[in-house]
Amino acid sequence: AGYARAEDGYDLWLRYRTSVSSSGAPRVSPRIDTRSSSRMMVAAADELRRALAGLSTAQVAMLGPIVVATAGDPDVRALDLPLALLGDEGYLVRTVTLARARVTLVTANTERGALYGSFALLRHLYTGGDPRRIALSSAPRVHLRILDHWDNLDGSVERGYAGQSLWDWWTLPDYRDPRYTDYARANASIGINGVVLNNVNASADTLTARYIAKAAALADIFRPYGIKVYLSARFSAPIELGGLASADPLDPRVAAWWRAKADEIYRAIPDFGGFLVKANSEGQPGPRDYHRSHADGANMLAAAVRPHGGVIMWRAFVYADTDPDDRAKQAWTEFKPLDGQFADNVIVQVKNGAIDFQPREPFHPLFGAMPRTALMPEFQITKEYLGQATHLAYLGPLFAETLRADTMAHGSGSTVARIIDGSIEHHRLTGIAGVANVGRDRDWSGSTFNQANWYAFGRLAWDPALDPRAIAREWAAMTFAPAIAKRVATMMMPSREAVVDYMTPLGLAHLMATGHHYGPEPWVSGLKRPEWNPVYYHRADRNGIGFDRTASGSNAVAQYAPALARQLSNPATTPPSELLWFHHLRWDHPMPSGRTLWTELVQRYDAGVAQVGDMRRQWNGLRPQVDAERWEKTATFLDIQAREAAWWRDASIAYWSSINGLPLPAGTRPPA
Ligand code: GCU
Repeated sequence: AGYARAEDGYDLWLRYRTSVSSSGAPRVSPRIDTRSSSRMMVAAADELRRALAGLSTAQVAMLGPIVVATAGDPDVRALDLPLALLGDEGYLVRTVTLARARVTLVTANTERGALYGSFALLRHLYTGGDPRRIALSSAPRVHLRILDHWDNLDGSVERGYAGQSLWDWWTLPDYRDPRYTDYARANASIGINGVVLNNVNASADTLTARYIAKAAALADIFRPYGIKVYLSARFSAPIELGGLASADPLDPRVAAWWRAKADEIYRAIPDFGGFLVKANSEGQPGPRDYHRSHADGANMLAAAVRPHGGVIMWRAFVYADTDPDDRAKQAWTEFKPLDGQFADNVIVQVKNGAIDFQPREPFHPLFGAMPRTALMPEFQITKEYLGQATHLAYLGPLFAETLRADTMAHGSGSTVARIIDGSIEHHRLTGIAGVANVGRDRDWSGSTFNQANWYAFGRLAWDPALDPRAIAREWAAMTFAPAIAKRVATMMMPSREAVVDYMTPLGLAHLMATGHHYGPEPWVSGLKRPEWNPVYYHRADRNGIGFDRTASGSNAVAQYAPALARQLSNPATTPPSELLWFHHLRWDHPMPSGRTLWTELVQRYDAGVAQVGDMRRQWNGLRPQVDAERWEKTATFLDIQAREAAWWRDASIAYWSSINGLPLPAGTRPPA
């Protein structure tokens, strides 16, 4: 079939076409009245114009003129709309009568809200919503909705699988690649309002005048889209850049250096967001080098940005050689005692799980354990441990699983979402971060379906209660076409579980190859530090498998609220999906299904491989409805995934059976 134009995925979910074959050529120009010529309202009007060009004449007529106006506008005031609860980022989009004409009104208390409302209107229209009766209203539940770029100044991206860094440091600040604006549009469309430009393993050079000017150029481009720029700060920068002898946070010269640095940054970027810091983890410098606490370090930086309204995002991912008995316990051990000691413009950034962005991890025990500290979860959108660029794994269910997990810290129902949105512990500062999967690839994320993870992250950061399936449908409707959205979402939904099954079923973790984390290496045991070795995590021997984190083992369960710790101490009340994370069990341990652990384990690997086969069949069925270019690339990636899912299964099962000496359970397929 002839396709109207090549599709390379550059347009992301902002394709603005109602079907695969429609061309996106302008048909009619609707009237758009933004009542303000601020850069933000110009951005909103540009987006509406660009998008509405993809609608039919009939649809545009049904929509009527579009008025974008904030609460102070006399017309809006006269309508007496319920804007009070929308805060400074929420929006309301409604079909109303203004001066006897029916119009589509986009309104909010602020221009930023109106920008988000404009994108919400477009989402409504391009997911098949009725243009005649519009009643949309939403306000974000979380304030800081941040993408963390792990981008280095040499253009490489740590754990990035979508090409080089988007930021061309060589040509910034002069050349303002239009792509930066497209990036900002994509983020604004899903409500992301902050971007950390550089890797947490930060170079001090980021804080030099030369790079501050480059960051300022990006901040200027992002500003009309409601996005603030943040930087990762290297804790020892006062030594490297300032020539000081130490970076001790309690040394007044060090504090003065950071104050002056913050002042310098704010002169260039008046709305600079603040710093993200990885300290005393994986060899990074930090306050512990001077026998000071993480709170001492964070608070010193917080004082430097406080006069300017900045925040410090201080990471709790501390991974050092200090707790060899169980790496999963480190963050809680070090941070829990500091509860209540952090300044009120510090937010502690906690990975979703206690180890490291695995295909599945129980939620991090710090959630609910630091009621007097603002915490923000950190997710990885880039799929370091989930097949990187090629494997199709929709992460909406992974993000939602953590957000919905019940910490039981303040009675049942104290979910991670309600801890981090401030509704239980009443924090003013709230946030969510995701490690970006964006690079210079034409399709931004390395594959079409990786784009969905960026999208889902933004939507869940806005509202952690959203349903990942509904998000997948929205994304698929805009990325492909409303007519196939349901089928695409059906294919996406089990994809993450498939990865869990063929890589790390039943609560296993960290069995990936050393260093690059691609492919299976559960047998590795000779590396210098114990927790670098996969055998440290699975602990398989002739008799059984799994990491005992109950009282008879590392007792990591005691880091959870007592009611939950009790459940997790007993294999019978531990969810099977987390079983081997918490327990070391005999190979013949009886599972709820009636099968032995060994049989069930092998079946999970098979189920993961089978699920990939299913996805391939479903994608083949969608071929007539997807443009050739995106269809082919996804089909090829699914072929890779099918091959590698089988590799994971076969290598893993062969290894486990070399340890337990057990035959393959009847009815399962032998390794190829
Ligand atoms: C993981 C990842 C590192 C990263 C670290 C972090 O360990 O492999 O590349 O630096 O997380 O989050 O700091």
